[in-house]
Formats: sequence, structure tokens, C-alpha cells
Amino acid sequence: MTPPAQGNAVIRVESLFKAFGSLKVINDVNLNVNVGETLVVLCRSGTGKSVLLKLLIGLQQPDSGSIQMLGQEITQLAEKPLNEVRKKVGFVFQNAALYDSLTVAENVEFPLKYHTALTVGQRREQAMEILTRVGMQDSALMMPTELSGGMKRRVGLARALVLKPKIMLYDEPTAGLDPITSEEINELILKLQQEHAMSSIVVTHEMHSAQRISNHVAMLDQGSIVFDGNFSDMKNSDNKFVSLFIKNG
Ligand SMILES: Nc1ncnc2c1ncn2[C@@H]1O[C@H](COP(=O)(O)OP(=O)(O)OP(=O)(O)O)[C@@H](O)[C@H]1O
Ligand SMILES: [Mg+2]
Repeated sequence: MTPPAQGNAVIRVESLFKAFGSLKVINDVNLNVNVGETLVVLCRSGTGKSVLLKLLIGLQQPDSGSIQMLGQEITQLAEKPLNEVRKKVGFVFQNAALYDSLTVAENVEFPLKYHTALTVGQRREQAMEILTRVGMQDSALMMPTELSGGMKRRVGLARALVLKPKIMLYDEPTAGLDPITSEEINELILKLQQEHAMSSIVVTHEMHSAQRISNHVAMLDQGSIVFDGNFSDMKNSDNKFVSLFIKNG
């Protein structure tokens, strides 16, 4: 499937392939995300959502294909220039992946420590600013083990935002949360898009999130894109996998 011809794509994926042995996880995937857009990638559990996002920030290497992030080809990029690109891309890991031995504030400060020359005081100030934005300012001194699932997601979101990225990648940001907390996370994603023109990819299997936050939706079946378009148009797709997903979603 050819990606739509668009000029200002901040993420452009072309003919991407990734297999583990005989398992084709990403099979000729083409995707475009324009400035300020949210693309939701829908697919079943265990079928390549996390792998796709890891490819996009160079944590895994594709077998072939092209990935351009903010105009820069990142496949085969050396560690140092790759790190420069990663600074501009916030990654919200599945299950938050917080450092258990660090407080909430220290978790959020961590990327600043690694990537900037800010002082301790400046780092704390910026971390608190972001924690306030996600409604977690009162939990700054708590340890991750003391947080609920939804609170952890918010802190993971804050940590991904602290370097003021141009792109956000979310790995199942609402999976396993109750509907109300899920909705709060969706609202935060929407707010970032509307107030900061954030460009995002959200991978999920949750139809409701896709409906709520997407500008467009790509559906992956066995590593291949079987639909790419608006959420409302998805209902008209005659693809069997798409119909099944909608029926059960
Ligand atoms: N490093 C790896 N080595 C071998 N196989 C891998 C590796 N990473 C992922 N896989 C395989 O690729 C497939 C897709 O994995 P991935 O983690 O992307 O799924 P997912 O859609 O994120 O799943 P979930 O919904 O459970 O999070 C799985 O079959 C997995 O076993
Ligand atoms: Mg996953």
C-alpha cells in the first residue's frame, strides 16, 4: 500500500521489513505522520506493536526499508547522531518502565541528566513543571512502587515529555487501565496535540482510544497494513480483519 503523498511528514516509513527467524513481524509497512497529527496503529496483541516503535527510535534495526524521523534517515545511523534524533522523540514505554530505585521526580529528571548540562536545581524545576502538566506534582517524592497503574503512566508520560520532544511515540498507553483513567490519558494525549502541535504515533489494540485521539488510523494484520485512513472510513472497509476488529473492538 502506498503512503499518501504529503509534503510535511515528520515521520515517514517506507517499505519496512523486520523478521525474527521465519516470523515476519513487520512486512512492507509504509506510514506517514504529518506535523501535529496523531496516527493510531491498531493491531492484535503480540503482533509487532512494540517492535514497530522500537524500530522508529533505532532500538532495533530493520532488515530493510527506510525510516525518516524529522527529515533524517535513522536506519544505519551511528550512535551519536541517533542520540540527537532520540532527544527529539519522546517514547512512552509499555507499562511505564520507571526506574524503581528513583523517586518520581528523579525518574522525570533522568533524561535531563543524561542529555543536558542543566544544574540540579534547573532539572528539578523542569521536572516539576512537567509533572504539574500531567497532574502528578504532589507525588514528586513518591517511589514508583507506591503508585497506581494510571499514576505510573502519567509519570512515564512526563519523563518522555521532559526534553520537549517534537514527536511522541506511545506504546499501549491505556492498556490495563480502567475506562476513566484511560480517558484521562487519552485527554492528555489530545491536549498535547492541540496545545503543542505534537506529532504522535500511538500503538494500541483499543478501538475507543483510536476513535478518541486519532487523525488517522493504520491497521496491521500479520505485519502488513490492511487499512490506512480516517477512523470513520474504517467502518466501510471490506477487509475481513478490519471488520472482525471493529465487530469485537
Ligand atoms: N528481540 C526479539 N527477538 C525475537 N523475537 C522478538 C523480539 N522482539 C519481539 N519479538 C517477537 O515479535 C513479535 C511481536 O512482538 P511485539 O513485542 O512487537 O508485540 P506487541 O504487539 O507489542 O505485543 P503486546 O501486545 O503483547 O505488547 C512477537 O512474536 C515476539 O515474540
Ligand atoms: Mg508490546
